[in-house]
Amino acid sequence: MSDQYAVFGNPIEHSVSPMIHRSFAQQTNQHLTYSKQKIEQDVFEDRVSDFFSSGGCGLNITVPFKERAFEMCDVLSPRARYAGAVNTLLMKDGQLMGDNTDGIGLVRDIQDSCGWTLRNKRLLIIGAGGAARGALLPLLETQPQGVTLTNRTYARAELLQKRLDGHVDDVTVHAVPMEVLGNESIFDVIINTTSAGLLGETLALPAVLCGPNTCCYDMSYDMSANEPSTLFLQWARKCGADQVADGFGMLLEQAAESFSLWRGVLPSTTELRQSMR
Ligand code: ATR
Repeated sequence: MSDQYAVFGNPIEHSVSPMIHRSFAQQTNQHLTYSKQKIEQDVFEDRVSDFFSSGGCGLNITVPFKERAFEMCDVLSPRARYAGAVNTLLMKDGQLMGDNTDGIGLVRDIQDSCGWTLRNKRLLIIGAGGAARGALLPLLETQPQGVTLTNRTYARAELLQKRLDGHVDDVTVHAVPMEVLGNESIFDVIINTTSAGLLGETLALPAVLCGPNTCCYDMSYDMSANEPSTLFLQWARKCGADQVADGFGMLLEQAAESFSLWRGVLPSTTELRQSMR
């Protein structure tokens, strides 16, 4: 029997993870199966335990279970510990190990696929929820010149900044209320981590933040669109930015990193990037 992998979530119908991982397996000549499983709220921990005790090799965890997966782990990677959330599980020497590949997926997509530089650049991160928490540590590891965190609910941005104590000491990170963003000057890179666009809501962002050379990245995406077209990216284009990207590439890169944790080989995302869009 081939090695078994799966993604657990709820809802899960629209997940393209099985398609992505099957393609990675084919590309790297690995023999495995990868399924998507809808898990009911009250049985998540039991289902994870059952999966591994019946010989399963690895799991991806998605909404709404990433924090519960985090709680279950015996061993956590530093980036998962900071994020407080786990999207990749594997069993090693009888211990359940948890990692979070979302942030590294974002960084790889930005640097390798978009070709944007983060090192020594001024970054603005919008949002302070789970998505921002997952992205922050890998973003800081690229050594930007400084990071500004902003959020509709300012207290959450401050909290995110405070959580960094002891994690980084060579990058300046400061939290700024959204209402006073108009006092800031143009950023090199702006990353939207909020769920506003998915809810059809626009962010109240002043145009002074973004110029023609600002690279704008939206972590959300619309699979049905041929090109990045989220509300945030529409705002960026209106500000004159011509370098924009949505989170579709991040989806592929976080999956590639999970695959490499499980199988020891990092697949290329180039072909899928073209064929799936
Ligand atoms: P996720 O795990 O996707 O990050 P989350 O933890 O619920 O989800 O966080 C959602 C983020 O989107 C938060 O930063 C939220 O801002 P608040 O902390 O103020 O709730 C942000 N968000 C959602 N809708 C928004 C809107 N209409 N305008 C601005 N920010 C919004």
